Amino acid sequence: MELMNELYKRHYKQDSPSLSVTSSHWKIGGEKNLSLVNGFPNILGMGGFGDVIQASVFQSFKNLPIRTLIKKSEITYVKDKTILRIAKNVCKKSNFIFRNDALKGCLVIQDILKQLPELKNAKDKTICIIGDGYGLLGNFLKSLNPNLQIIFVNLGKQLIFDLATTIKTSPKAQIKLVSNVDSCKNAKENDFLFLEAENYQLIENLEIDLFINVVSFQEMNLEVIKNYFKHMRNSKASKKYFYCLNRDSKMLPDGQIIRFDEYPWENSVIMKDEIPKWCQNYFINRPPFVIDYDGLHRSRFIRF
Ligand SMILES: C[S@@+](CC[C@H](N)C(=O)[O-])C[C@H]1O[C@@H](n2cnc3c(N)ncnc32)[C@H](O)[C@@H]1O
Repeated sequence: MELMNELYKRHYKQDSPSLSVTSSHWKIGGEKNLSLVNGFPNILGMGGFGDVIQASVFQSFKNLPIRTLIKKSEITYVKDKTILRIAKNVCKKSNFIFRNDALKGCLVIQDILKQLPELKNAKDKTICIIGDGYGLLGNFLKSLNPNLQIIFVNLGKQLIFDLATTIKTSPKAQIKLVSNVDSCKNAKENDFLFLEAENYQLIENLEIDLFINVVSFQEMNLEVIKNYFKHMRNSKASKKYFYCLNRDSKMLPDGQIIRFDEYPWENSVIMKDEIPKWCQNYFINRPPFVIDYDGLHRSRFIRF
């Protein structure tokens, strides 16, 4: 809870440090306020972000259409039912309804394990997730293989949500905020590391085997994306991979268009490139129930 208070103080009680990494999209979404209730974030005056809904009898009933459609997708797309089981368990511990983003997390893991099956039983691998929303994917991965180290990189204001899910899912885990070069030393000893995007250059001081970005580059400025690629390339592991799932192109509120093809892929080895069928639409609770995203999503798995 100490870290929760620290992040709350740094990002809600006073002005956040440099907002240069915050695109116009998150300047709008991120400036709403929040309080801590019993040590956990409580969003005030807005519906939250992402697809996460707190579970209750009322919400379970209200989300019946989504839950039914998700069930059908599980049967069609999720081959490894272990992933589904652990993901549902994380949602239960976090008191979240298993909805679109949770299913997406399962399918991302399934995609990644096709390229790196050894991750399931690896003893000392580190995975860094850039912009995990509510920290679902990171906590799914940690539950799947407790020997993995997970690093969450997120805007300070949003990192508090990754942390809340982590505390609820793994209350005994060793966690650490990495905020300067010194704190990167001995970082391997922790189960989870938390890194404010405002300090994203610290990625270069960490040993990371796999980076994951799921629908969050599409909401950043191209300059920030280019810096992320630079920091990932310069990070300390000798062999490192990147799984990227983002919109083919998307316009930010300030008019800037972010295109997947314009990310600095340079001379990376492309191991898989596809347009995942399961990530082209999402479910809602009223007719027409299935909505196409505003544009195509693409996924790419590379080795730097
Ligand atoms: C649309 S949400 C995606 C959440 C999750 N990955 C998913 O698939 O549902 C975008 C996420 O990117 C984060 N984000 C925005 N700008 C960022 C930045 N510069 N660095 C890291 N994360 C950022 C947001 O805080 C949020 O967690």
